Amino acid sequence: SLTKAERTIITSMWGKISSQADTIGTETLERLFASYPQAKTYFPHFDLNPGSAQLRAHGSKVLAAVGEAVKSIDNVSAALAKLSELHAYVLRVDPVNFKFLSHCLLVTLASHFPADLTAEAHAAWDKFLTIVSGVLTEKYR
Ligand code: HEM
Repeated sequence: SLTKAERTIITSMWGKISSQADTIGTETLERLFASYPQAKTYFPHFDLNPGSAQLRAHGSKVLAAVGEAVKSIDNVSAALAKLSELHAYVLRVDPVNFKFLSHCLLVTLASHFPADLTAEAHAAWDKFLTIVSGVLTEKYR
């Protein structure tokens, strides 16, 4: 679990991220589909061209869920219980894609908030996103 210092980093940076969550979410997905095209196979029903309305709407939803996890940083598992069931039982997303998405979010954060993404903050986000991904994949078996 996260140390107090790591929680502080995540929650205080979220204060900055939340005001541009839609942009960050959309860019994260654009990076995901550009760098890891196999992730596109889960979205056959979406227009995945950069900047499409569906991409932006979905990016906004994904970041809102990350925001819920930040708000409940001590109990991410409860906060994302419904989404965990969706991804495991309905969507059946291969867990490796969560690593790809986490990486793309981290790169997006680094590019928007270079001064904040110190080595320490990078490590805290990496750990937090591993926890979030763990919750979303924990119901798989
Ligand atoms: C749907 C969050 C990772 C594929 C969703 C929704 C949210 C969400 C909030 C919308 C649920 C709803 O409408 O009720 C997240 C978060 C992730 C994550 C927080 C990781 C941090 C992934 C990954 C993939 C994926 C890695 C596959 C590459 C999907 C698909 C949908 C979905 C296919 C349904 C889209 C639709 O038809 O509207 N996710 N997700 N998710 N997610 Fe994820």
